[in-house]
Amino acid sequence: MKLAVVPGKAEIDQIEAALERYGVLIFPNQNIQPQQQIAFSAALGPLEETELEKARLEGHEEIFVVGNVGKGLVSFSPEDNEQELEWHTDHIHHKVAARASLLYAKEVPAQGGDTLFSCMYHAYDSLTAEQRQSYCEIQTINSASGLEHFLSKQNLSGTTGSQVGRKHDEVIRPLVRAHPLSGRKALYFGNQITIGIVGWEVDRSRCFISDLTRHACQPAFQYRHRWRVGDAVLWDNRRVLHAGTAYDVKNARRLMHRTTLRETEPINLI
Ligand code: SIN
Repeated sequence: MKLAVVPGKAEIDQIEAALERYGVLIFPNQNIQPQQQIAFSAALGPLEETELEKARLEGHEEIFVVGNVGKGLVSFSPEDNEQELEWHTDHIHHKVAARASLLYAKEVPAQGGDTLFSCMYHAYDSLTAEQRQSYCEIQTINSASGLEHFLSKQNLSGTTGSQVGRKHDEVIRPLVRAHPLSGRKALYFGNQITIGIVGWEVDRSRCFISDLTRHACQPAFQYRHRWRVGDAVLWDNRRVLHAGTAYDVKNARRLMHRTTLRETEPINLI
């Protein structure tokens, strides 16, 4: 499928069904301009601009520039392979979350800078019956403050570069959500951006989220995307978590354009 062409109703239905079924769709060998990426994405649903003002592509504000080739470093990858990955689902900390994201590779490093995806249907299904029951009662607290260590290094602390040190909003979400198309339950959280569990002490919450990340993002549930220039990857934030891997940000170039689709259904407790 060529993303340069705006999809019609039949293709959109096909994409949406495949997205729910596989969680991640790869469209290799694309050659698209920002306007074409925006048009393709907007055909699937309403778009959301990034809150990071400096990462918006000038003239095409719906494009979120990720990498080290834009106006500065914008990265959700750790500095090296020793550090923890930032597993997350886009915009869980916003009032309106992101249902899907489309990332298009314009420049990629020879090594590293992969994106990992982990299936949250499997993560939920493989819990014990007791865990499944109790996790459906849990509500998470999500905030950009959980990413502070990432953002401060990139001069992106705060939701925009100009709001360093401001108090971040906290958004409460269910830990388990049902996918609106399939009804299947999936875990829904991020290992840093989820900063707590409603009603729990900080330490208990932190331990739980770390253990849950280890379970939910175990290699058996993962897909690793090794980028080639021209790849576009569309993922369903309602049923996968994703994480960027480390690359040599000082010497290698990575330039990705992301469009983000707004959640259009309410995220209800089960
Ligand atoms: C993202 O988290 O949206 C970007 C992932 C990546 O840079 O690989």
